[in-house]
Amino acid sequence: MSLIPSGLTGLPALDIDTVCDALAGPGYVAARLTDTDMLAALRLEAEALWQEDGLTPAGIGRADDHGLIARVRRDKTKWLDGSTPGQATYFAFAEALRQQINARLMLGLFAFEAHFAVYEAGAFYKRHLDSFRGARNRVLSTVLYLNPNWREGDGGHLRIHGEGDDILTELRPEFGTLALFLSEEIPHEVMVSHRERFSIAGWHRCNDRGLAPALQARVLPIAP
Ligand code: OGA
Ligand code: MN
Repeated sequence: MSLIPSGLTGLPALDIDTVCDALAGPGYVAARLTDTDMLAALRLEAEALWQEDGLTPAGIGRADDHGLIARVRRDKTKWLDGSTPGQATYFAFAEALRQQINARLMLGLFAFEAHFAVYEAGAFYKRHLDSFRGARNRVLSTVLYLNPNWREGDGGHLRIHGEGDDILTELRPEFGTLALFLSEEIPHEVMVSHRERFSIAGWHRCNDRGLAPALQARVLPIAP
């Protein structure tokens, strides 16, 4: 069985200058990854983890919070550790991206972490930011989607919010699509998925806000 869908996605292949222009402008962008061997390996791995019950519902392990968390998000996750060829290739890609973005935008991206996520039918993740201003942690969010032949009616869109009720865009979680956005700036939401939806959510972290002059200018509130 081939995992490569006929239409793949209409998005352009990832181009680092386009990505950096978009991050410095609106703060979000989507592109397409073309390493179909890596994508297929990651998809198989995510699906196997799901079938083996190797993913943990968000919030499990934090008993007090669990009910609260289930109202906000219903994904199941597992951290990548780079131990399989697919994961190692993805980490190498993330590292190259980190260096190229730092060279252009001086964001001071320092470390990358990522987890597999599955949203089963009915699952969602309500509107949120991936990082709070001044928390000095997640700077750039990346989400790689691993779903061949995703249909419009399957739901599970990534909705990017603007100010207030504005919806800036909705992205289909199609195989090979990579969403990138600024973690502290871009409110987003995963719409209810109507069938199992696989992805890898990853975050480039900043070691020290002092290392990220471009971000300071853009994001930080004026210090008292
Ligand atoms: C997240 C997230 C978006 C998506 O994991 O924080 O917002 O489209 N994921 O899966
Ligand atoms: Mn998020």
